[in-house]
Amino acid sequence: MKLEKFPKDSFVISTEMVLPNDTNPLHNLMGGRLLHLMDVVAAISAQKHSNRVVVTASVDNVSFKYSPKLGDTVTLEAKVTRAFNSSMEVFIRVWSENIPNGTKVETNTAFFTFVAVDQTGRPIIVPKIVPETDSEKKLYEGALQRREVRLMMAGRMKPKDAKSLHQMMKDGMSNEE
Ligand SMILES: CC(C)(COP(=O)(O)OP(=O)(O)OC[C@H]1O[C@@H](n2cnc3c(N)ncnc32)[C@H](O)[C@@H]1OP(=O)(O)O)[C@@H](O)C(=O)NCCC(=O)NCCS
Repeated sequence: MKLEKFPKDSFVISTEMVLPNDTNPLHNLMGGRLLHLMDVVAAISAQKHSNRVVVTASVDNVSFKYSPKLGDTVTLEAKVTRAFNSSMEVFIRVWSENIPNGTKVETNTAFFTFVAVDQTGRPIIVPKIVPETDSEKKLYEGALQRREVRLMMAGRMKPKDAKSLHQMMKDGMSNEE
């Protein structure tokens, strides 16, 4: 197993067309259907990073800014931002296009967390990430704080143990002084 990988190693892009069975009575893509597509694409990205079976551990807040319509295409782009021990944060960006009209709009972004597991479902170590571009470095840096927030929300971390968040708030306060 490689000890380190780049975000580009886990890059996945997939395009689907919104079909009648995917829509609500307003002919808009159902939110749950989009979440399903996001989960699949993000899981493939986490698999590419870890070369393991992965399970979805959590999905951060998802806000839908725009609803893709019947006949539009939906493109989903994902890559791993940071790997911890067995878990990986995946950033996913979704946009929709009406190709005949030539319009394109970002519908939403989200962070998924996947855990690599062995054949018995036990978490297993994954390679670290080495960010390369400025945006990858920014996502990598923020991942530590996002991890602490989601572990606290899941009742898996006590607020006093969220060291990176404490440091961020300390830095923020000293910048205001
Ligand atoms: C996710 C799962 C493997 C964690 O197993 P566990 O025995 O609790 O393992 P641990 O406590 O050692 O945690 C393993 C990793 O998961 C991470 N994790 C666990 N719950 C998490 C959550 N809610 N959000 C983010 N990360 C989480 C931990 O931080 C840890 O990360 P690290 O190894 O990088 O430090 C286990 O809870 C599971 O199998 N859940 C069901 C997953 C599933 O079926 N998803 C689809 C639902 S339909």
